Amino acid sequence: MTERGVSDKLGRPLRDLRISVTDRCNFRCTYCMPKEVFGHEYQFMERAELLTFEEIERLSRIFVSHGVGKVRLTGGEPLIRRDVDRLVEMLARIPEISDLAITTNASLLASKAQRLKEAGLRRVTVSLDALDDETFSAINDVGFPVARVLEGIEEAAQVGLGPVKINCVVKRGVNEHAVLDLAHHFRGTGHIVRFIEYMDVGTSNGWRLDDVVPAREIVTKIQAEMPIEPVGKNYTGEVAERYRYADGSGEIGIIASVTQPFCQACTRARLSADGKLFTCLFASIGHDLRALLRNGTSDEEIHDEIGRIWGRRDDRYSEIRSSQTESLPRVEMSYIGG
Ligand code: GTP
Ligand code: 5AD
Ligand code: SF4
Ligand code: SF4
Repeated sequence: MTERGVSDKLGRPLRDLRISVTDRCNFRCTYCMPKEVFGHEYQFMERAELLTFEEIERLSRIFVSHGVGKVRLTGGEPLIRRDVDRLVEMLARIPEISDLAITTNASLLASKAQRLKEAGLRRVTVSLDALDDETFSAINDVGFPVARVLEGIEEAAQVGLGPVKINCVVKRGVNEHAVLDLAHHFRGTGHIVRFIEYMDVGTSNGWRLDDVVPAREIVTKIQAEMPIEPVGKNYTGEVAERYRYADGSGEIGIIASVTQPFCQACTRARLSADGKLFTCLFASIGHDLRALLRNGTSDEEIHDEIGRIWGRRDDRYSEIRSSQTESLPRVEMSYIGG
């Protein structure tokens, strides 16, 4: 269990772990959990299927022994998992985890931020696709108001979880106007808005290439009103291209997974809420680690198994996206975690 630093077939180490703690969400974003698919009859995971916090902690320690130092909790909506702050506390005690973050829709953030900070959370990323209620409601599809998301962001910053990153998925004809709205709103606040190209994750959102607003276009749009210049990456493997406002009023990010894929430096493993390990966001099958956790397999054996899975990894879906790969089965983002 001492060896750190397994590499996959393309020489990429294992450094980040994204843990989905639930496949449920209180939003029905049209590009992620469309109501037609995720309606009343949809079979979400049963409680007994979910990894317990103790199981997540055990696996996290094993991943750490492979070199993971960055952990992000996702979902679904992670803050609807009961007592998730207790999990944060358990993970925050693992010394090798230097970055512990959460990606949330912020609907419950205002009331939970303080407790999460005390539990040891380092930072939060909030999804927010528009600043006007009409557009935002049409996207979240449950009528959730923008003001409450903004409250969540402010509370997170107040308790020391900032600067907050704000993720905006840009979809053609739906929220292109939100690019300038969000850039203007958060400029000078210290928070960092990241604009994300709409991706073909899962099979239920009816993705079409025409719906994607390319990063270049987003940059040009902002540049025309507020001069920006590129800045280098914070760390190898960072998915966002960073830009700063020329007048020093802050920075933004662009995540161009469709037009400028970043698989080459992809060091991310994903763990679904029911304990399957996915080596790519676009994978169609996961490796069942829960079975090992529950059948008496030792930590050493699980460590070795994860090493073998990572060693066989050659995923680079976004780089090879093509008409052939588009028709392959893929798991939903709410299942695998963003
Ligand atoms: P930082 O640690 O703050 O840099 O966060 P991050 O950018 O790694 O994480 P975040 O959860 O905010 O992800 C932002 C967007 O990038 C989301 O839409 C993700 O789905 C997308 N993304 C993250 N990792 C991957 C990946 O491995 N592949 C692809 N294609 N997209 C990814
Ligand atoms: N394309 C790009 N980003 C997506 N997200 C969810 N679905 C998609 C998609 N199809 C984003 C969420 C969240 C992050 C984890 O992933 O908005 O901010
Ligand atoms: Fe929920 Fe996030 Fe998916 Fe929206 S994008 S449905 S908030 S998990
Ligand atoms: Fe990593 Fe797969 Fe995303 Fe490429 S498509 S960056 S391999 S998760």
